Amino acid sequence: MADRHATLASFADFRRIAKTRIPPLIFDYFEGGAGDETTIRENETAFAAVRLPQRVMVDMSAIDSSGDLLGESCAMPLALAPIGFAGLMCRRGETQAVLAAEAAGVPFCLSANAICSIEEVARAARRPFWFQLYMMRDRDVVVDLMRRAWDSGCRTLVFTVDLAMPGIRRRDIRNDLFGGTTPAKLLSYVRHPRWLIDVGLRGGPHTFGNLAPYVAQARNLASFGSWLMGQFDAGVTWRDIAWLRDQWRGKLVIKGVLDPRDAQLALDSGADAIVVSNHGGRQLDSVSPTAAALPAIAQAVGGHATLLVDGGVRSGQDVLKALLLGADGVLIGRPWAYAAASGEAAIAALLARFQAELRTAMVLAGLRDTDEAKAIGRSHQLSRTANPPI
Ligand SMILES: Cc1cc2nc3c(=O)[nH]c(=O)nc-3n(C[C@H](O)[C@H](O)[C@H](O)COP(=O)(O)O)c2cc1C
Repeated sequence: MADRHATLASFADFRRIAKTRIPPLIFDYFEGGAGDETTIRENETAFAAVRLPQRVMVDMSAIDSSGDLLGESCAMPLALAPIGFAGLMCRRGETQAVLAAEAAGVPFCLSANAICSIEEVARAARRPFWFQLYMMRDRDVVVDLMRRAWDSGCRTLVFTVDLAMPGIRRRDIRNDLFGGTTPAKLLSYVRHPRWLIDVGLRGGPHTFGNLAPYVAQARNLASFGSWLMGQFDAGVTWRDIAWLRDQWRGKLVIKGVLDPRDAQLALDSGADAIVVSNHGGRQLDSVSPTAAALPAIAQAVGGHATLLVDGGVRSGQDVLKALLLGADGVLIGRPWAYAAASGEAAIAALLARFQAELRTAMVLAGLRDTDEAKAIGRSHQLSRTANPPI
């Protein structure tokens, strides 16, 4: 672990540093969510409420915390979730994140709404990464993005289905996030000189790298934002996913399922994997926290697809809890975004922290490998007995 991050012991520490480094309106964009942000809080408390087993006097001298996600062997069953605008956290942020993920041996998923394009990330990366997309009104754009992802070596497409329209995020409204530049915004940038130099002055261009070829008139994030708003398609159905399945030759991950019936429909549409997700509480506030929704979805999926979960995963213990509740792995969103405020080395330090916590939790819970934890998850023991809140 890089020395200068050695004293960052938890998610809260990485978050605290990010809050001091990043201008408030940008920090709010990462931190915030929909409505009263009830779901953001409950995603975390639902994981916190899960009780781990404690086993003693078991020979745990050799344990294996590695996992397999969609045919890729990973140092732990965890991937970096797609985060739009992550490139605003540090200079060309997505290229720094992909390198940190590679070094840690976990997959990185690039958002369609990234600052860096697929091609730029592919030039920085040494291994294939995942690409996230959602349905846009202009299906030619969807097809072209899939072609670009494939040509750049991506073989796993994460298709987000909980974004028929964007959730109402009050912090972004109050901060006029997508409005023009104002003296107040400029002042807040100047008050964060390290960020201003790293990202504002040296980190451009500040555009949606993937979408730039399709948006002729866009010169700044505000004009990209309004193009994007016109692309959300509330008429999307599972029939469109079947169309998508025909277009994409690689692995297809359906992200944003919270109901067992939708999990079944995702399986019927040919999904290789499902992500139990409420978009980190950014879409519909007051829906079920993901740790609570997971066991019933695991039962519905019944091992017929890889099952991932995100939302509120804040430590290696939470990774183990997710496995014990029936997941094959997790995605983490805000944890890596906050770490990114301090660059690649900090993301590496965060991932090393998760890895150490996962291994410690496994030893103290008497679980020698992640398959053993997943077998408990599949038997639904934990969700039936030890966890009254779930
Ligand atoms: C700032 C921010 C931007 C996000 N952008 C995207 C995105 O572009 N595409 C997507 O599928 N999910 C996006 N998400 C959702 C994440 O992929 C993930 O589901 C969520 O962050 C998990 O919750 P966590 O932040 O509690 O870990 C975003 C989340 C945040 C916090």
